[in-house]
Amino acid sequence: MSLAPVIAVDGPSASGKGTVAARVAEALGFHYLDSGALYRLVAVAAGRAGVSLTDEPGLAGLAIKINISFKNNELWLDHENVSELARAEETSASASRVAAFPAVREALLQRQRALRCAPGLVADGRDMGSVVFPDATLKVFLTADRAVRAERRHKQLIEKGMRVKIASVVEELQRRDERDSSRPVAPLRHYPDAQLLDTTHLSIDEAVQTILGWYGQGVRGQPRSP
Ligand code: DC
Repeated sequence: MSLAPVIAVDGPSASGKGTVAARVAEALGFHYLDSGALYRLVAVAAGRAGVSLTDEPGLAGLAIKINISFKNNELWLDHENVSELARAEETSASASRVAAFPAVREALLQRQRALRCAPGLVADGRDMGSVVFPDATLKVFLTADRAVRAERRHKQLIEKGMRVKIASVVEELQRRDERDSSRPVAPLRHYPDAQLLDTTHLSIDEAVQTILGWYGQGVRGQPRSP
């Protein structure tokens, strides 16, 4: 039986990959996986359960047992809508710490693979094409200059009514980029089998159309062993 197609969209924080990936999924009628949300939910669950962000086995245990669901754009943890907390800036930093532990990544692997079903899946994250779906049909590395990513994130935060300085957004992005890229397991990296999509000068719509174009033209990633 052939597996459902997967479009893997990896890239750094605030690159816009979530919005772009969700729209590609919608256009194709595919399912959508926001894998960063899983790490965010583990971080939120740890806060609730009093598990330290340095306790790898404790965090991996949570990753296995927590009850999570996605409804529309909402993130639910053990039957509670925790979207706001899960997407808050302080959770971004703890999710990045949680995600550096191999046991946590291992615990979330099957949960992610289980979401691959017909007619197809668009998955966004850091290691979708390299580890979780190494046989993805199309792999995209979506990025933008850090200054542009910081501006986009800053605008979002201001729209949410938060008062933050652009300099601190740049600093936080730099810290997360470094942590996500330098960890030994599943680091954030542009592998040669992924199409590079630099959105520094592109609108969301142009990025979506580029990916749909590649998919429609049969541009394919190379299968790689994790
Ligand atoms: O995409 P995001 O900002 O919601 O991700 C939150 C954190 O989770 C990010 O700092 C890195 C980590 N992450 C990861 O390590 N692997 C993924 N596939 C997705 C996210």
